[in-house]
Amino acid sequence: MSDKASTAASDDEDTNPTWGGRFAARPAGVMEEINASIGFDKRLYAQDIAGSRAHCTMLVAQGIVTSEDGAAILSGLDRIRRQIERGELAFDTALEDIHMNVEARLKEIIGDAAGRLHTGRSRNDQVATDLRLWLRDAIDRLDGELVGLQAALIDQAERHAATVMPGLTHLQPAQPVTFGHHLLAYVEMFGRDRGRAADCRKRLNECPLGAAALAGTSFPIDREATARALGFDRPAANSMDAVSDRDFVVEFLSAAALGAVHLSRLAEEIVMWSSAQFGFVTLSDAFTSGSSIMPQKRNPDAAELVRGKTGRIVGALVALLVTMKGLALSYGKDLQEDKEPLFDAADSLSLCVRAMTGMIADMTVNAEAMRAAAEAGYATATDLADWLVRRLDVPFRDAHHAAARIVGLAEARGVRLADLPLKALREVEPRIDKTIREVLAVERAVASRTSFGGTAPDRVRAAAARARERFL
Ligand code: ARG
Repeated sequence: MSDKASTAASDDEDTNPTWGGRFAARPAGVMEEINASIGFDKRLYAQDIAGSRAHCTMLVAQGIVTSEDGAAILSGLDRIRRQIERGELAFDTALEDIHMNVEARLKEIIGDAAGRLHTGRSRNDQVATDLRLWLRDAIDRLDGELVGLQAALIDQAERHAATVMPGLTHLQPAQPVTFGHHLLAYVEMFGRDRGRAADCRKRLNECPLGAAALAGTSFPIDREATARALGFDRPAANSMDAVSDRDFVVEFLSAAALGAVHLSRLAEEIVMWSSAQFGFVTLSDAFTSGSSIMPQKRNPDAAELVRGKTGRIVGALVALLVTMKGLALSYGKDLQEDKEPLFDAADSLSLCVRAMTGMIADMTVNAEAMRAAAEAGYATATDLADWLVRRLDVPFRDAHHAAARIVGLAEARGVRLADLPLKALREVEPRIDKTIREVLAVERAVASRTSFGGTAPDRVRAAAARARERFL
């Protein structure tokens, strides 16, 4: 059989603890150190035991293992699971990984029947199965967390559907928008992130179990049955693909990297908004920290860490892509390197989503500062140009030119557009009358952006309601 694991644990101290017979000597210490994955793959224990249970049940149903041995194996596996959950099982690095640790313990509990569990399978299909099961759960958890974040954003968006702030392009004041509209932009991004993770989940839901080492098995196994028992849609179609493919992990890490990038952009905005220079939002005590030397400080640490953790999540994607590149079929031990980046990225992303949710839900919005900044930046210059087009039938290019000159006047006088006397406006365009005032106010400017997907408060309220239906 494939990888000689039916004699999982040898009692002979002088030989290799795992492979027994053929290996006369124990592995070098450093070999054990580089080879063992138990330090991190112990996280897969529940999936590993679930996979073994499904495999064992199938072996019995197919008459490959007797029902007595099957029953002993199942009850032994349950006991091991409980022991691990209570922290009572001491994992052994000499046994390399979670698969061998569970099997060795099973042998201690039920004796030689334990050796029958590995019939018609290999650690290669076992680990691929475990990891798919683990990732499936992780995606489901992440989805729930992203829903929480979207809910916090939608709540704030509804509260601030009419709160005016400067909308920026090139980080320069562009046109006034509402804060609610700005937040709903992120709701869309996180919605697509959820979609990408859901896509990945759909594709990963095929069961490698029964692919054995790489070629399938000569035992009359029932792969449909194990796939069904583990909640997979179907067995993986090709045994070599099943043991060597990790594109489900790469796919998740790509989605995770992009999600992290979205979080990082929001985090960066929070860092800016909460700075003394902007003063748009105040973060709660719960999500900031002080300085050990500067008493006045309230640092946006959580936002900075969300931004910072993007590096390791993107790094995980790159790490696995590089690991996979140039790896001939089928399984190679290189593939053991898939787990740490995956676990770290999934943990980090979850943490970032939860921290972001807390920050968004808790932050206070300084509407006055936002409004003042929107007015200070001549952000209604486009509205001024549009007014010239609409009222005076000026071609847009000329209107743009006139509006730019008016901005120049306001700049020279150090006033807001709305504060310029009519006389000054008429120096640029004599036909301007006092009705132009209406479009120079930032509230009017946002209220006029009523096109679908635009920033008018009524639109934002409708968009928030619709986002609730679409996402929550
Ligand atoms: N710990 C291994 C991994 O994570 C399990 C599979 C080992 N298979 C093998 N043929 N040595 O990839």
